[in-house]
Amino acid sequence: MSDIGEENDILAYGSIFCYILEMCGIIGYIGKKQALPILLKGLRDLEYRGYDSAGIALINDGKIERVREVGKVDMLVKKIDGHKFPGNIGIAHTRWATHGGVTEKNAHPHIAGEGKLVLAHNGIIENYRELKKKVKGPFESETDTEILAKWIFLNYKGDLSQAVKKALLSVRGTYGLAVMHADHPDEIVAARLGSPLVIGIGKDEYYLASDVTPIIPYTKQVTYLDDGEVAVINRKDLKIFNLKDEQITKGITKIDWNTEKAQKGGFETFMLKEIFDQPTVFEDAIRGRIDMKEGTAKLGGLNMSPEEMQKIKRIILIACGTAFYACMAARYAFERLSGIPTEVDVSSEFRYRDPIVDEHTLIFAVSQSGETIDTIMALREAKRKGGVVRGIVNVVGSTIARETGAGTYIHAGPELAVASTKAYTNMVAILLLYALQFGRLHHTTVSTGQRMLQELLEIPEKINKILKNSDNIKILAKKYKDYENFLFLGRGVNYPVVLEGSHKLKEISYIHSEAYPAGEMKHGANALLSKNFPVLVVMTQNQLYEKIKSNVEEVRARKSEIIVIATESDKSAKELSDDIIYVPKTMELLEPLLNTIPLQLFAYHIAAMLHRDVDRPRNLAKSVTVE
Ligand code: F6R
Repeated sequence: MSDIGEENDILAYGSIFCYILEMCGIIGYIGKKQALPILLKGLRDLEYRGYDSAGIALINDGKIERVREVGKVDMLVKKIDGHKFPGNIGIAHTRWATHGGVTEKNAHPHIAGEGKLVLAHNGIIENYRELKKKVKGPFESETDTEILAKWIFLNYKGDLSQAVKKALLSVRGTYGLAVMHADHPDEIVAARLGSPLVIGIGKDEYYLASDVTPIIPYTKQVTYLDDGEVAVINRKDLKIFNLKDEQITKGITKIDWNTEKAQKGGFETFMLKEIFDQPTVFEDAIRGRIDMKEGTAKLGGLNMSPEEMQKIKRIILIACGTAFYACMAARYAFERLSGIPTEVDVSSEFRYRDPIVDEHTLIFAVSQSGETIDTIMALREAKRKGGVVRGIVNVVGSTIARETGAGTYIHAGPELAVASTKAYTNMVAILLLYALQFGRLHHTTVSTGQRMLQELLEIPEKINKILKNSDNIKILAKKYKDYENFLFLGRGVNYPVVLEGSHKLKEISYIHSEAYPAGEMKHGANALLSKNFPVLVVMTQNQLYEKIKSNVEEVRARKSEIIVIATESDKSAKELSDDIIYVPKTMELLEPLLNTIPLQLFAYHIAAMLHRDVDRPRNLAKSVTVE
């Protein structure tokens, strides 16, 4: 992965800093066995991370042999089709593009030095332009990885590990990488900064991979590389250095996971893993997309000049399900920061209601899969009517990404559980950045912008804090799991939060639940309240705090059990509730980023205790491609 296709791209999705550290997969082998079958199986084991192309390279008879192919690993196997690639040292890579062309030339491994050196890499080289001036063309691909390969080769003076260490001293960015050189058929050099790598230790053999999944069929003994470390692996031993060339002693970890558990990162389900992925993928979503000096966002994928942005008089966010709730959560920021009237519509309604759209209307089609038919049809309708349409999408190259032609990838990585969690959080993050970018062209001041960005930077740590409370939320889940109905209440920015929380609970636990704006209760829903109808209220300390507090008093008078999500150390919320979950304080507009997380965990733990198939709830599909 790690493309630099931006300059050449027809699609203007994102910017050069759009990258995901977790997604692509590296596998390497050095030992006595034939490397090819190990590498191909390893690639298959890593496919769950997402893929669009794959490649392998082996050293045989002092020469590097390489095969790459677009598509699934099966396509690569088909291309290899019976050709023998003998050799007992090799590296391989599955790529999951974040932008830029999905082509064979962009697939890894990349070569340098007329095929002498080969490199597989996850991450991004931020100063690739600088390095590009120092190395020699021609360049086969649009990737920064190829430049890195050439840069390492330029530093090569007969010792591969020294070349890697020296080259990396002047690299800015992130990497998990594996390098081989035809003249060193006994050595793989690996390095890590920001993108995971683990080394499996066998008898006179070593495995190298982005996670333990492809390693565990062969050995349970592993060593994790840490940031700033370089591993020099040969058949007989493994040495680990820092970039100052000092040798480091590392411990060995024993893994007792099976492949399935390893793919889930040790979690019971993909959904739980994805909930816990959120701090990391949130960082991926905002990295390189903020301009602290100007107090604004820089989402190049919008593909509009400030003058064109100024002409936008109305914004419409269209989406389905969880993506729709993400849009609702961000609407407050659009209106408050930019003053531009912003509507949110369910795609299946928008497409049939003959919407009023003109060339001053900007429509964001928001979708994790990028394949939701209702959203595709809605964006076509918006285009037909002359609107300016952009995509906010997770899956690169999906239909919505292609049909909108410009927009932003949310970089949540593959989301495999049907119930969306990390994609929601990253959608909200990107929408908030857009709201700020528009806001700064209107009445939002630089200091408000800076404050919001600072708060955004603190979100991953705050999400982590909430995740640490998962076991306490599990205890609550045990208490509440047998109720047949739930009511979720919120106001303002927390109304969409409870809609999403209630949606999650329904989807995966099959318990009936409804979400209401708390101020609306007295107009009907109060009639539902009784001892057997627990109410979950999100009442963090924002401008509507006092209002929702009195709503909760009314609920209390009707004897319902009350679970409250409140701001840390809010004692009066505790007095109002039977049970309380605290969340850290943040700026009001950012609250959905935090307040949704305990609701995801609450729904998750209830569903798990009820033995539901959490990753694949009944009657639901991950990608809804039919109307
Ligand atoms: C909820 C969920 C669905 C999707 C909806 C839209 O957890 O997964 O409600 O959010 O089907 O899907 P995308 O975002 O792929 O357009």
